[in-house]
Amino acid sequence: MIASETFLGVKPSSEYIFAVIASPVGSYFKGGPAPVSIWVSENYTRAAIGGTGAVKCGGNYAASLRAQAEAIQHGCDQVVFLDAVERRYIEELGGMNVFFVFDDGSLLTPQLGTILPGITRDSIIALARDAGKTVREEPYSLDQWRKDAASGKLKEAFACGTAAVISPIGKVRSVSGDFEISGGAAGPVAMGLRKQLVDIQYGRTNDPHNWIRKVF
Ligand SMILES: Cc1ncc(COP(=O)(O)O)c(C=O)c1O
Repeated sequence: MIASETFLGVKPSSEYIFAVIASPVGSYFKGGPAPVSIWVSENYTRAAIGGTGAVKCGGNYAASLRAQAEAIQHGCDQVVFLDAVERRYIEELGGMNVFFVFDDGSLLTPQLGTILPGITRDSIIALARDAGKTVREEPYSLDQWRKDAASGKLKEAFACGTAAVISPIGKVRSVSGDFEISGGAAGPVAMGLRKQLVDIQYGRTNDPHNWIRKVF
Protein backbone atom coordinates (compact mmCIF):
# COMPACT_ATOMS: atom_id res chain seq x y z
CA MET A 1 0.00 0.00 0.00
CA ILE A 2 1.59 3.23 -1.16
CA ALA A 3 0.43 6.81 -0.47
CA SER A 4 -0.45 8.39 -3.81
CA GLU A 5 -1.88 11.82 -2.92
CA THR A 6 0.01 14.75 -4.45
CA PHE A 7 1.14 16.56 -1.30
CA LEU A 8 4.36 17.72 0.32
CA GLY A 9 4.32 17.36 4.10
CA VAL A 10 3.77 14.85 6.91
CA LYS A 11 0.19 13.60 7.29
CA PRO A 12 -1.79 10.49 6.46
CA SER A 13 -2.46 10.39 2.72
CA SER A 14 -6.05 10.69 1.51
CA GLU A 15 -5.32 8.38 -1.46
CA TYR A 16 -3.54 5.07 -1.63
CA ILE A 17 -2.57 2.47 -4.21
CA PHE A 18 -3.33 -0.99 -2.84
CA ALA A 19 -1.68 -3.72 -4.88
CA VAL A 20 -1.35 -7.46 -4.36
CA ILE A 21 1.57 -9.25 -6.01
CA ALA A 22 0.90 -12.94 -6.68
CA SER A 23 3.86 -14.91 -7.92
CA PRO A 24 5.58 -18.26 -7.46
CA VAL A 25 8.38 -18.14 -4.91
CA GLY A 26 11.36 -20.28 -3.98
CA SER A 27 12.47 -21.12 -0.45
CA TYR A 28 12.95 -18.12 1.82
CA PHE A 29 16.24 -19.54 3.04
CA LYS A 30 18.68 -20.88 0.50
CA GLY A 31 18.96 -24.12 2.48
CA GLY A 32 15.18 -24.72 2.33
CA PRO A 33 13.84 -26.13 5.60
CA ALA A 34 17.37 -26.93 6.84
CA PRO A 35 18.10 -25.41 10.28
CA VAL A 36 18.91 -21.69 10.13
CA SER A 37 21.24 -19.60 12.27
CA ILE A 38 19.99 -16.57 14.16
CA TRP A 39 21.83 -13.44 15.32
CA VAL A 40 20.47 -11.84 18.50
CA SER A 41 20.38 -8.07 18.09
CA GLU A 42 21.38 -6.61 21.45
CA ASN A 43 22.00 -3.07 20.10
CA TYR A 44 18.98 -2.45 17.90
CA THR A 45 15.30 -2.93 18.61
CA ARG A 46 12.50 -3.23 16.10
CA ALA A 47 9.37 -1.95 17.86
CA ALA A 48 8.25 -0.49 21.18
CA ILE A 49 4.96 -0.54 23.09
CA GLY A 50 2.66 2.07 21.59
CA GLY A 51 4.48 1.90 18.26
CA THR A 52 3.79 0.16 14.96
CA GLY A 53 5.36 -3.25 15.61
CA ALA A 54 2.07 -5.12 15.32
CA VAL A 55 1.29 -3.94 11.80
CA LYS A 56 2.94 -4.62 8.50
CA CYS A 57 4.28 -1.14 7.79
CA GLY A 58 7.45 -0.23 5.94
CA GLY A 59 8.90 1.64 8.92
CA ASN A 60 9.21 -1.60 10.91
CA TYR A 61 11.36 -3.08 8.17
CA ALA A 62 13.49 0.07 7.84
CA ALA A 63 14.16 -0.23 11.57
CA SER A 64 15.20 -3.86 11.16
CA LEU A 65 17.65 -3.57 8.25
CA ARG A 66 20.77 -2.51 10.14
CA ALA A 67 20.32 -5.40 12.56
CA GLN A 68 19.70 -7.82 9.67
CA ALA A 69 22.92 -6.60 8.00
CA GLU A 70 24.72 -7.28 11.29
CA ALA A 71 23.26 -10.81 11.29
CA ILE A 72 24.66 -11.45 7.80
CA GLN A 73 28.07 -10.06 8.87
CA HIS A 74 28.07 -12.62 11.68
CA GLY A 75 27.30 -15.43 9.24
CA CYS A 76 23.65 -15.76 10.31
CA ASP A 77 20.51 -16.11 8.19
CA GLN A 78 18.21 -13.89 10.26
CA VAL A 79 18.16 -11.47 13.14
CA VAL A 80 16.04 -11.96 16.28
CA PHE A 81 14.98 -8.89 18.24
CA LEU A 82 14.68 -8.40 21.99
CA ASP A 83 12.02 -6.23 23.64
CA ALA A 84 12.74 -2.50 23.55
CA VAL A 85 12.14 -1.91 27.29
CA GLU A 86 14.27 -4.45 29.15
CA ARG A 87 16.26 -5.81 26.20
CA ARG A 88 15.76 -9.28 27.69
CA TYR A 89 12.75 -10.91 26.08
CA ILE A 90 12.61 -12.51 22.64
CA GLU A 91 10.20 -10.71 20.32
CA GLU A 92 10.45 -11.99 16.74
CA LEU A 93 12.79 -12.28 13.78
CA GLY A 94 13.21 -9.58 11.12
CA GLY A 95 10.49 -11.21 9.03
CA MET A 96 9.15 -14.15 11.04
CA ASN A 97 7.60 -15.15 14.37
CA VAL A 98 9.31 -17.64 16.64
CA PHE A 99 8.32 -20.73 18.65
CA PHE A 100 10.07 -22.80 21.32
CA VAL A 101 9.38 -26.48 22.02
CA PHE A 102 10.07 -28.01 25.45
CA ASP A 103 10.79 -31.49 26.76
CA ASP A 104 7.24 -31.83 28.14
CA GLY A 105 5.90 -31.40 24.59
CA SER A 106 4.59 -27.86 25.21
CA LEU A 107 5.20 -24.89 22.93
CA LEU A 108 5.82 -21.24 23.77
CA THR A 109 5.67 -18.19 21.52
CA PRO A 110 6.06 -14.54 22.54
CA GLN A 111 2.76 -12.80 23.33
CA LEU A 112 1.20 -10.31 20.92
CA GLY A 113 1.68 -6.58 21.42
CA THR A 114 4.80 -5.31 19.70
CA ILE A 115 5.19 -8.23 17.27
CA LEU A 116 3.43 -8.96 13.99
CA PRO A 117 0.42 -11.23 14.61
CA GLY A 118 1.45 -13.60 11.82
CA ILE A 119 -1.12 -15.89 10.20
CA THR A 120 1.44 -18.72 10.33
CA ARG A 121 1.89 -18.16 14.08
CA ASP A 122 -1.87 -18.31 14.49
CA SER A 123 -2.15 -21.47 12.36
CA ILE A 124 0.59 -23.23 14.32
CA ILE A 125 -1.08 -22.38 17.64
CA ALA A 126 -4.35 -23.86 16.30
CA LEU A 127 -2.74 -27.03 14.87
CA ALA A 128 -0.66 -27.65 18.00
CA ARG A 129 -3.71 -27.18 20.27
CA ASP A 130 -5.74 -29.50 17.98
CA ALA A 131 -3.06 -32.11 18.65
CA GLY A 132 -3.57 -31.66 22.41
CA LYS A 133 -0.37 -29.70 22.99
CA THR A 134 -0.13 -26.82 25.46
CA VAL A 135 0.81 -23.57 23.73
CA ARG A 136 1.75 -20.60 25.92
CA GLU A 137 1.89 -17.04 24.60
CA GLU A 138 4.21 -15.36 27.08
CA PRO A 139 7.58 -13.67 27.48
CA TYR A 140 10.72 -15.80 27.14
CA SER A 141 14.11 -14.27 27.87
CA LEU A 142 17.36 -14.75 25.99
CA ASP A 143 18.99 -15.92 29.26
CA GLN A 144 16.29 -18.55 29.75
CA TRP A 145 16.62 -19.65 26.10
CA ARG A 146 20.36 -20.16 26.60
CA LYS A 147 19.86 -22.05 29.90
CA ASP A 148 17.09 -24.27 28.52
CA ALA A 149 19.14 -25.10 25.41
CA ALA A 150 22.09 -26.09 27.65
CA SER A 151 20.01 -28.16 30.08
CA GLY A 152 18.09 -29.95 27.31
CA LYS A 153 14.74 -28.58 28.57
CA LEU A 154 14.42 -26.81 25.22
CA LYS A 155 14.10 -29.40 22.48
CA GLU A 156 13.47 -27.20 19.44
CA ALA A 157 13.08 -23.61 18.29
CA PHE A 158 11.67 -22.60 14.95
CA ALA A 159 10.86 -19.51 12.91
CA CYS A 160 7.59 -19.21 11.03
CA GLY A 161 5.98 -17.02 8.40
CA THR A 162 4.20 -17.26 5.07
CA ALA A 163 7.47 -17.22 3.14
CA ALA A 164 9.59 -19.33 5.50
CA VAL A 165 6.67 -21.64 6.44
CA ILE A 166 8.48 -23.26 9.39
CA SER A 167 12.26 -23.16 9.58
CA PRO A 168 14.04 -24.87 12.46
CA ILE A 169 16.59 -22.72 14.32
CA GLY A 170 19.80 -24.69 14.79
CA LYS A 171 22.23 -22.08 16.08
CA VAL A 172 21.96 -18.83 17.99
CA ARG A 173 24.79 -16.28 17.95
CA SER A 174 25.11 -13.13 20.06
CA VAL A 175 27.77 -10.84 21.52
CA SER A 176 27.34 -12.72 24.79
CA GLY A 177 28.09 -16.10 23.18
CA ASP A 178 26.75 -18.76 20.82
CA PHE A 179 24.64 -21.82 21.53
CA GLU A 180 23.05 -24.66 19.61
CA ILE A 181 19.59 -26.18 19.91
CA SER A 182 19.39 -29.98 19.85
CA GLY A 183 22.81 -30.23 18.25
CA GLY A 184 21.76 -27.89 15.41
CA ALA A 185 19.45 -30.49 13.84
CA ALA A 186 15.84 -30.05 12.64
CA GLY A 187 13.37 -31.34 15.23
CA PRO A 188 10.31 -33.55 14.78
CA VAL A 189 7.77 -31.00 16.10
CA ALA A 190 8.89 -28.27 13.67
CA MET A 191 9.07 -30.67 10.75
CA GLY A 192 5.73 -32.32 11.64
CA LEU A 193 3.90 -28.99 11.88
CA ARG A 194 5.56 -27.83 8.67
CA LYS A 195 4.36 -30.92 6.80
CA GLN A 196 0.85 -30.59 8.21
CA LEU A 197 0.60 -26.90 7.26
CA VAL A 198 1.98 -27.40 3.74
CA ASP A 199 -0.27 -30.44 3.22
CA ILE A 200 -3.31 -28.30 4.17
CA GLN A 201 -2.14 -25.53 1.79
CA TYR A 202 -1.75 -28.03 -1.08
CA GLY A 203 -5.04 -29.80 -0.30
CA ARG A 204 -3.24 -33.07 0.48
CA THR A 205 -4.89 -33.45 3.88
CA ASN A 206 -8.11 -32.35 5.50
CA ASP A 207 -8.45 -28.68 6.41
CA PRO A 208 -10.09 -28.78 9.86
CA HIS A 209 -10.51 -25.01 10.20
CA ASN A 210 -11.62 -24.27 6.60
CA TRP A 211 -8.59 -22.09 5.94
CA ILE A 212 -8.36 -22.87 2.22
CA ARG A 213 -10.15 -20.57 -0.25
CA LYS A 214 -10.29 -21.00 -3.99
CA VAL A 215 -9.02 -17.84 -5.72
CA PHE A 216 -10.22 -17.38 -9.28
C1 LIG B 1 8.07 -8.98 11.05
C2 LIG B 1 7.29 -10.19 10.63
N1 LIG B 1 6.89 -11.04 11.58
C3 LIG B 1 6.18 -12.15 11.28
C4 LIG B 1 5.87 -12.45 9.97
C5 LIG B 1 5.07 -13.68 9.66
O1 LIG B 1 3.76 -13.32 9.33
P1 LIG B 1 2.85 -14.26 8.44
O2 LIG B 1 2.81 -15.58 9.11
O3 LIG B 1 1.52 -13.57 8.45
O4 LIG B 1 3.48 -14.32 7.08
C6 LIG B 1 6.27 -11.60 8.94
C7 LIG B 1 5.92 -11.90 7.55
O5 LIG B 1 6.19 -11.17 6.65
C8 LIG B 1 7.00 -10.45 9.28
O6 LIG B 1 7.43 -9.62 8.33
